[in-house]
Amino acid sequence: QVLKEGSDLDFMEQQLMERLPVKQVKVVPGDEDASPQEVKSLLGKEAANLLIASYHGDSVVTVTGGSTMAAVADYLQPVDDVKPLFVPARGGLGDLHEYQANSICVKMASQTDGEYRLLYVPDSIGEELHAKMQEEPTIVEVLQLMKQADIVIHGIGDAETMAKRRKTAAETMNKINEHQAVGESFGYYFDKNGKTVHRVNSIGLAMDDLKERSRIITVAGGRSKCEAISAYLKWGESDVLVIDEVIARHLLKEY
Ligand code: G3H
Repeated sequence: QVLKEGSDLDFMEQQLMERLPVKQVKVVPGDEDASPQEVKSLLGKEAANLLIASYHGDSVVTVTGGSTMAAVADYLQPVDDVKPLFVPARGGLGDLHEYQANSICVKMASQTDGEYRLLYVPDSIGEELHAKMQEEPTIVEVLQLMKQADIVIHGIGDAETMAKRRKTAAETMNKINEHQAVGESFGYYFDKNGKTVHRVNSIGLAMDDLKERSRIITVAGGRSKCEAISAYLKWGESDVLVIDEVIARHLLKEY
């Protein structure tokens, strides 16, 4: 792997900030698919520093699941006079335990001497139960905090990888494939035009809630996520983009 000169990455960051609807871009060298541990650590470290720089006083931070968010948690540190509260963006989504938003909140709180809340909701529940659970006081409290959060930090997945990782039922898998979903974030699967094609029926942050957040930090790397990131920028909102070089080059070609 050839490490790029800082100035080369700086130039890409400048170009992307001018072309994309985001406020800040951080590019780390390499391709996460080619050097998973090395590049994921770089992404985690940069994103953790940007998250720490975003805190003020008693910030509420909403967090999604995934291995990238787990890497961010690794690099968080306590900050004087700041006691962040971490809230999961969704209930369980069928991810491995260590990649679930709940587990990542616990880890982030322990790294920062902060606090956390958990969302105990089964993966895929029927509509009636879904509606009832949204009235549960403990769930109402977490949903309110999640919606009040001043910072949201999240990962993005390639749709097929995420659907397989979550052992998605064949019927839903067909729907995701037929509608050509390329990306996934917050439990939503979307196509290359940014259109939602499927939403996992779990309780959590809805797409519309994203519009009002003051700072959304998006973190992703690897050639296999290029299409997913382009689609996310059409589907959702982002203020700060932390990506690797392979994704930066892809976005520069597209925008
Ligand atoms: O929703 C997106 C995924 O949680 C991303 O997972 O960071 O392990 O690729 P990952």
